[in-house]
Amino acid sequence: MEGKPVGVIGIVGAGTMGTGIAQVVAAMGYKVILRDIKLSFVEASVGRIGKQLAKSVEKGKITEAQKEETMARFVMTENLQDFKDVDIVIEAVLENMDLKKAIFKELNDVCKAGTIFASNTSSMSITEIGKESGRPDRFCGIHFFNPAPVMRLVEVISGLRTSDETIAKALEFTLSLGKTPVEVKKDSPGFIVNRLLIPFMNEAARLYAEGVASVEDIDTAVKLGLNHPMGPFQLLDFGGIDLSVTISNYFSDEFNDNGYAPQPVLKQMVRAGKTGMKSGEGFYKY
Ligand code: 3HC
Repeated sequence: MEGKPVGVIGIVGAGTMGTGIAQVVAAMGYKVILRDIKLSFVEASVGRIGKQLAKSVEKGKITEAQKEETMARFVMTENLQDFKDVDIVIEAVLENMDLKKAIFKELNDVCKAGTIFASNTSSMSITEIGKESGRPDRFCGIHFFNPAPVMRLVEVISGLRTSDETIAKALEFTLSLGKTPVEVKKDSPGFIVNRLLIPFMNEAARLYAEGVASVEDIDTAVKLGLNHPMGPFQLLDFGGIDLSVTISNYFSDEFNDNGYAPQPVLKQMVRAGKTGMKSGEGFYKY
């Protein structure tokens, strides 16, 4: 563990990203208050972390005592009122602008004046999410990648009103997690990684729909020709085809450029409920 972090981190949303982030943060010594709308969602999330850590113990990567110490750092709640002593909030709920705004509006009344608010949004405007937070200067993006315990990158994003001090603290925090931060200096849809990744996956879908090559061969080409760990269709299934469609639509609206719009084949798969790994079927079956 690097250093000895003091501080309490509040995480809103115990889905895939919230769970992964909570694991990283607790493993690095922070107390974590994890909240979702139902306590059972939070319990399931902490249960998944326990299983991951048990695997790490089996592999000899951590000791049983380290696992127990990490697990003891979680506080589970369904109540945002429990966030009054947190130093940093990371929001990792669904990609729904109104929901994100409402959460930060509520948190502004609960948290200390110095608490930094961060969104883990994959693509949406940090400035817009922070607009009603009452503290746009202490609001930024801290964007992790899936699976958060494995992926080394974190994007730290400035909104149009984020202060330099907030960004400095966010960078320091991500470094304390053992991650490599990159600074996104201008609030722009998709930041760095998703700005590149979403059009890439969309173009793969177009290539497939045009009959140029099969799903399997496009994935093989990308894995062996570019040394990516996953091909675009594996990645679409992994992250959720519905999320990719949502982000493509957001890009198309925000950039006023229909070239970013989701390929029809992706929209049809979402309509058919074939959203990827989470539904048991996407471009592949699970
Ligand atoms: N949680 C925690 N740990 C996990 C994990 C998870 N969900 N999935 C895998 N791991 C760990 C394994 O335990 C293993 O750890 P070990 O080295 O200590 O044994 C390690 O990761 C490697 O896992 P596996 O051997 O099972 O499998 P792979 O070697 O095939 O790796 C992968 C799996 C890490 C997912 C790899 O395929 C990969 O890097 N894929 C690309 C992922 C990617 O591109 N993510 C970014 C998506 S875009 C995004 O997140 C942006 C968002 O805004 C949408």
